[in-house]
Amino acid sequence: MNILVTGGAGYIGSHTVVELLRAGHDVVVADNLSNASEEALKRALTLVREERPDVKEIPFHLVDLRDRAGLEKLFAAHDAFDCCIHFAGRKAVGESVRKPWEYYENNVGGTLTLLDVMRRHGCKNLIFSSSATVYGDPSTVPITEECPKGRCTNPYGWTKWMLEQILTDLHAADEANGDPKPWNVVLLRYFNPIGAHPSGLIGEDPDGIPNNLMPYITQVAVGKLDHLNVFGGDYDTPDGTGVRDYIHVVDLARGHVKALAAVERGCGLAVYNLGTGRGCSVLEVVHAFEEATGVRIPYEIAPRRPGDVAACWSSPEKAERELGWKAEYGIAEMCRDAWNWQSRNPNGYKA
Ligand code: WQD
Repeated sequence: MNILVTGGAGYIGSHTVVELLRAGHDVVVADNLSNASEEALKRALTLVREERPDVKEIPFHLVDLRDRAGLEKLFAAHDAFDCCIHFAGRKAVGESVRKPWEYYENNVGGTLTLLDVMRRHGCKNLIFSSSATVYGDPSTVPITEECPKGRCTNPYGWTKWMLEQILTDLHAADEANGDPKPWNVVLLRYFNPIGAHPSGLIGEDPDGIPNNLMPYITQVAVGKLDHLNVFGGDYDTPDGTGVRDYIHVVDLARGHVKALAAVERGCGLAVYNLGTGRGCSVLEVVHAFEEATGVRIPYEIAPRRPGDVAACWSSPEKAERELGWKAEYGIAEMCRDAWNWQSRNPNGYKA
């Protein structure tokens, strides 16, 4: 299939571009490079060419999704797209609380423009990056797709939930109107993506001091940060620290390839959790990292981080049943690959 990948130069996007090309698809990337790097695409190409020497380039457009004219130009420059995999968007929870307008305008506004340009060009197939954040503070774990949603605790989460709603309504309207070419939409709710490509060529490259656990740990390991603050040691969890469902970014990327097959089958509206189904506490991650890498991570128990939930992990059974997708990597490989990436690229993509 001919796929447009928005945000394809970012962390999850670049890993997905690699898996799409490996699976034999054609890919065009659109990215405004606000939290991404063209270098990631260069390296993705190097990786892919080991298996697919026929791939000469990964066509790239420096475009912001709010720029309608820029998007029109992109669509006009390529053969019709069969599907768009839409990663582009801001994703920092704390920043979204400080700058809500920027989040709604960028994530919701940018997506609305994208959807309009897509339908004008006859492409009504979309795979959307949603998040476990739509479940808010879950009343039960593991979380299935049917669990209560829309109790978000920050503007970032609301943008994901609003976009899920918008996409659901587009699909429903086509159904109701008997549209001969209805929207096919796959909503993928990611749990906690970590790790990097096992080659160490591409990985996560956060700007400034990382907010998320794994990049923080790898920066402590590489000596850029002094110690890890463990946010909360008194949660109602086996060791008192927060529990999450960490998923290897390559597994996550492969979930998108499986979702494409569902789109090809004319799935209508489909929703899947992408997680491993296993919860891991902060201290378990720290110890797994130390074991996988031999590097010690000094840490201190610090106060809870506002907005954090005690425990959140997925039931990924629906994705296995309907997409034939299952996470293959465990926490040891996630730690190994995160460290491989960070130790080979202490400054990320910056030279
Ligand atoms: C994981 C655990 C922290 C940093 C967020 C977003 C979510 C998704 C992924 C996407 C928690 C603890 C963390 C640190 C710590 N967003 N922690 N010390 O909060 O589960 O999910 O990222 O783009 O929408 O909310 O992930 O990695 O920040 O935290 O103790 O320095 O690690 O309290 O228990 P989170 P995280």
